[in-house]
Parts: sequence; structure tokens; C-alpha cells
Amino acid sequence: MNSQQTVPSPVSATKNPITSALKKALESGQMRRKNSSEYRSFIKHHYDGIAGKLTRVTGILTGHALLAGQVFKPEAFDVRGCKRILDAGCGDGRYCREILRRADPDAFIAAFDLSQSMLLRASRRLKSDRISYVSADLTRLPYPDQFFDAMVCGWVIEHLPDPRPALREFARVLRPGGKLLLMTTEDTFAGALCSSLWHCRTYNRREIQGYVEECGLIWQRPLYFSNLHRMFRIGGVIQEVRRPE
Ligand SMILES: C[S@@+](CC[C@H](N)C(=O)[O-])C[C@H]1O[C@@H](n2cnc3c(N)ncnc32)[C@H](O)[C@@H]1O
Repeated sequence: MNSQQTVPSPVSATKNPITSALKKALESGQMRRKNSSEYRSFIKHHYDGIAGKLTRVTGILTGHALLAGQVFKPEAFDVRGCKRILDAGCGDGRYCREILRRADPDAFIAAFDLSQSMLLRASRRLKSDRISYVSADLTRLPYPDQFFDAMVCGWVIEHLPDPRPALREFARVLRPGGKLLLMTTEDTFAGALCSSLWHCRTYNRREIQGYVEECGLIWQRPLYFSNLHRMFRIGGVIQEVRRPE
């Protein structure tokens, strides 16, 4: 997106102006202050450096490392039978690891990230020759149309001021009927805190649903890390999305 284009204003779920103001104060201002190419290189450096190294530790502290497997259970996002699977913004390989565990042994697994250091961390961690890594941007995917049966994009689109260019790319590379596990930071207090640590934005659930549908995808069903997460509606937006048949 060029820096002159207008970024759609987020739909806020919070009606209370004091709560909204508090969340806004907590959220990172990096995306607002920089133009899109400055922000993109800032994020690349952020993950190339110490922040990227720390994702492994923060994953353990927040429970995300342990919980990652929950969303790949057969009754949740089932990758069995999928012959081509993509991990978009794979980071240090947390979700690739789950895909490797659950996917058919002959499935082709592709993973990309903006940060080459993150790709290196993933390949060192996973030590698998079943994954094909490439450095790429969410908004320009180096894969043919209708190539993937399934894809995962975990906690990445919050690094885009406007998610629609990426969502259109997801719709393009998924085969008709193919599915996407989309995870993103929600506009809650916990989300605002994540935003300040990772310099990302947050999404209101209805807002991201609108974008997904606008890009021709189906907002299929919400998933949760656990029943506790489901009961309290916590853990961020985790949604199964589909490309129509
Ligand atoms: C919070 S980490 C999530 C990593 C991984 N998906 C996980 O859940 O463990 C965000 C990742 O998105 C990558 N990223 C940020 N903006 C990106 C973009 N425009 N294109 C591709 N990757 C991007 C970062 O380099 C980083 O590795």
C-alpha cells in the first residue's frame, strides 16, 4: 500500500470512551507515525533482532507455545489430507512444527517470512527437509494461483495497516474450497498490551470479518485454544476462513 492511500478507520467494539482511550494509549503508535515502507523495514529489523529472538521465550511465557497444538487437533483446524500447506509469516516455526506433526507425510509444506533471521531460526529449530522456506511479503506471495489446500497465518496481519492486500493474496493462492487458519491480535486490553510490545495494530472481530468477506473469503467458524478461552472469549481472534468452492 502506498503511504498516501487512506487506511480504513477501525470499527471499535468498545462503546465506553474512557476504555477506548486507555486502550489507544496502550497501543503502539509506530504504525501511525511511519509511512508504510518505513514501518515495514522497522518491523523487519524488529524481528531480525532481539525481539525475534525473544519470540521463543514469550511463546513459553504466554502459553502460546503449549497451546499451539490445540488449534490443529482434528476437530479444529484439520490439516490431514491437505497436500499443499502454507505457513504465512512463519516466524521461528511454531505453527510449522504443528503442521509437520499433523500433516500427511507426503504433504508439501511451504513457509515464508519477511525476516530472513526468523526463517533461519525456524529452519534451525525444526531441522526438517520437508519445509520449503522463502523470504516474502504478505502482500506479494511467490506462489501460483489456487496452489494451496490449506494455509495458516498466525499473528502477522496485525503488522499491516490495511489487511486487504494480504487477504486478496490468500484468496488467490488458496484452491476453491481451501481453508485458512487466521489468528490475529484483538482490540482488547491484552491485545493492546501485545500491540505495545510487538509494535502492531489490533483488530475488532467484526472489522476483520468485514475485510475477509470483502476479499471474497468466507468467515467460517471461530476457534479457541481451550474451553476456558472460549468461555471468556480470550486469546485473540482465531478463525477458520474458507475460499468458496
Ligand atoms: C508475532 S510473529 C508470529 C510468527 C509465527 N506466525 C508465530 O505465530 O509464531 C510475526 C511474524 O510476522 C512477520 N511479518 C511481519 N510483517 C510481515 C509481512 N508484511 N510479510 C511477511 N511476514 C511478516 C515477522 O517477521 C514475524 O516473524
